[in-house]
Amino acid sequence: MTDNLLEQEAQRLYKSLGQITRPDGQKYSLAYCKKLAPLTSQINELKKQKNALILTHYYCAPEIIFGVSDEIGDSYGLSKKAAQASQDILIFCGVSFMAQTAKLVNPSKKVFLPPTYAGCSLAQSITPKEVEDLRKKYPLAQFICYINSTAEVKALCDICVTSANVFDIVAASPSKQIVFLPDIFMAQNIEAFLKAKGIDKEIIAAGGTCCVHDKYTLKDIEVIKQKYPQAKIICHPECRKEVCQASDFCGSTSAMLKYVNESSAAIFAVLSERGIIAVLEQQNPTKTFLPTGRTCAQMKLNKLEDILEILKDDTSVPEVKVDDIIAQQALKSINAMFKGAKK
Ligand code: 13P
Ligand code: SF4
Repeated sequence: MTDNLLEQEAQRLYKSLGQITRPDGQKYSLAYCKKLAPLTSQINELKKQKNALILTHYYCAPEIIFGVSDEIGDSYGLSKKAAQASQDILIFCGVSFMAQTAKLVNPSKKVFLPPTYAGCSLAQSITPKEVEDLRKKYPLAQFICYINSTAEVKALCDICVTSANVFDIVAASPSKQIVFLPDIFMAQNIEAFLKAKGIDKEIIAAGGTCCVHDKYTLKDIEVIKQKYPQAKIICHPECRKEVCQASDFCGSTSAMLKYVNESSAAIFAVLSERGIIAVLEQQNPTKTFLPTGRTCAQMKLNKLEDILEILKDDTSVPEVKVDDIIAQQALKSINAMFKGAKK
């Protein structure tokens, strides 16, 4: 690559990344973009040669999102893009359950996760055996699993949801009794949402919490409100119920983006992962985002260097695989979601 092309690539990166605050509090300077340019330009070139698609969750590093990704989105958006993909290779920058979902919805493709494994406190919070035991305990319940679960757990559930469609799908459930797993806080938020709408369901929660969103407390909201009374506070439904109820808006990652993009407010406190704040900063250069973001360390395991390795030689890196029988069953719950979601 000539110096001139590298300079052009650095300028392109700087145009997209210059507004964004890095985790160390610094902005993406032109000098920093010049360091990234050799990597991103090689990746973008090889991606075309190898017929690969890079799908990236909003929580990954901005240089991946804006430097090399073809599709960026939340869990729901990316699962649909993965299902529609025609490329031979899908590189999923996210965590393991997301790459596994991409393989489930488009099994003939070679799917890679750059860090090979990246956990999620929710997906790891429940075992298939625990789901089987719950099935025995609640034989009449509909089992609804959050997409943040393993393929084995999805295979034991009736329908899968993401934060983008959970409220609609649970509200439309044919069952009065629902076992919702593995996000206990989301289950409590659904219960409160349904109650407010006058919908009568018994929600039995199982599993754990998101180790990023569960850290936000009412105290954080009090502090923000005292210092920035005009700030709009927005959060993800993986947060505690009292945090969701005290916020101005609670919604999925894509819903939060839409809320901010359409809002006339000038200051926002986003109680979610830091990556979405970077995207918001990029899309809303005149709005101020308070430094409220927390980091999902597992999402940050995705690195440009590993994406490049996959593209250089995909036989040197393990593909994402799912056992055939598990895959067939898990796909049923994902397809039920695609059928039941409003969009
Ligand atoms: P969404 O991408 O569905 O908003 O979920 C957030 C999250 O925590 C993903 O792991
Ligand atoms: Fe899992 Fe939370 Fe990280 Fe999302 S942010 S991957 S739910 S630990």
